[in-house]
Amino acid sequence: MAEHDSISKVITILFLLFLLESSSGQLDPNYYYSSCPQISDIVKTTVESAIANDARLGASLLRLFFHDCFVNGCDGSILLDDTPTFTGEKTAKPNNNSVRGFEVVDQIKSAVEKACPGVVSCADILAIASRDSVVILKGPTWDVKLGRRDSKTASLQNANNDIPPPTSSLSNLTSKYAAKGLSAKDMVALSGAHTIGQARCTNFRDHIYNDTNIEASFARSSLQPICPKLTGSGDNILAPLDTHTPTTFDNYYFKNLVSKRGLLHSDQELFNGGSTDSQVKSYSSSSTAFFADFVSAMIKMGDISPLTGSNGEIRKNCRKIN
Ligand code: HEM
Repeated sequence: MAEHDSISKVITILFLLFLLESSSGQLDPNYYYSSCPQISDIVKTTVESAIANDARLGASLLRLFFHDCFVNGCDGSILLDDTPTFTGEKTAKPNNNSVRGFEVVDQIKSAVEKACPGVVSCADILAIASRDSVVILKGPTWDVKLGRRDSKTASLQNANNDIPPPTSSLSNLTSKYAAKGLSAKDMVALSGAHTIGQARCTNFRDHIYNDTNIEASFARSSLQPICPKLTGSGDNILAPLDTHTPTTFDNYYFKNLVSKRGLLHSDQELFNGGSTDSQVKSYSSSSTAFFADFVSAMIKMGDISPLTGSNGEIRKNCRKIN
């Protein structure tokens, strides 16, 4: 009898632990396994055709996910449009006239709403689209944890404060990531995303005219001719963040840093005689090491404060609260 009692106690405890686990809001790669099995194919084919038309869109989608996750967690807040009564994050300094790829997200969302209405969040669409972009551009793959819900709010102020600017020092970068639960190691690995995509002259002008830790002929012959010195002139002219292979996800970003060919001041901070030099060096000689750390840092970034359970909502249109 006593034995029976203790067995049923153990079963009850296991059951309670199970309930606790399933209500604790853990994300799960199989979250849409039965509710929307089409999600993977829809995101993949849409991102593939977007990148086939414009290779830069892969970079733009990856950046959207970063700018989403760093502002109150990965909750789709960056996707919300401003209205006369609502201020979103799109006009924040790091986003304004800079973030792109919203039409691709809209396209994915409308296909997903047809296949499985009201089920898949915009925040999860960004997470999958980022992974697919990296894979299509020849980077590593990973299982994306899912089950995030979408915010009903956004924060212009947090977007301005929490996303690091390109003028950041190494210690500023480290503390902005620490504030999100990410280590300096994660920060360096995630920065490898700058192996794809473009930046505007306004964001690298100071670095190419005023910094001394940039290879002189790279600054003078490749960049200064396209980015005028005068503030306000040619601000939107673009240059690739990875001068070598701007549409391939590889470790050239780190090779560039080692040869002082970082485009942004903040990029070169990662290899400027400080504590992160050895990590940059190691990634510059091993794309395997970079890929492994990039994947684990992306998964960690994707875990930042998700809305789960009955928090938030599943938006019907990623640009608007329901
Ligand atoms: C370490 C701190 C970071 C800083 C200071 C930073 C800053 C910037 C800046 C200034 C640009 C160019 C924007 C423009 O000129 O319009 C840019 C582009 C980009 N960033 Fe970052 N970034 C950082 C980290 C990250 C992370 C963690 C990711 C993704 C995991 C990322 C992905 C990208 C991509 C892919 C682009 C190119 C986007 C495109 O071509 O549309 N960045 N970043």
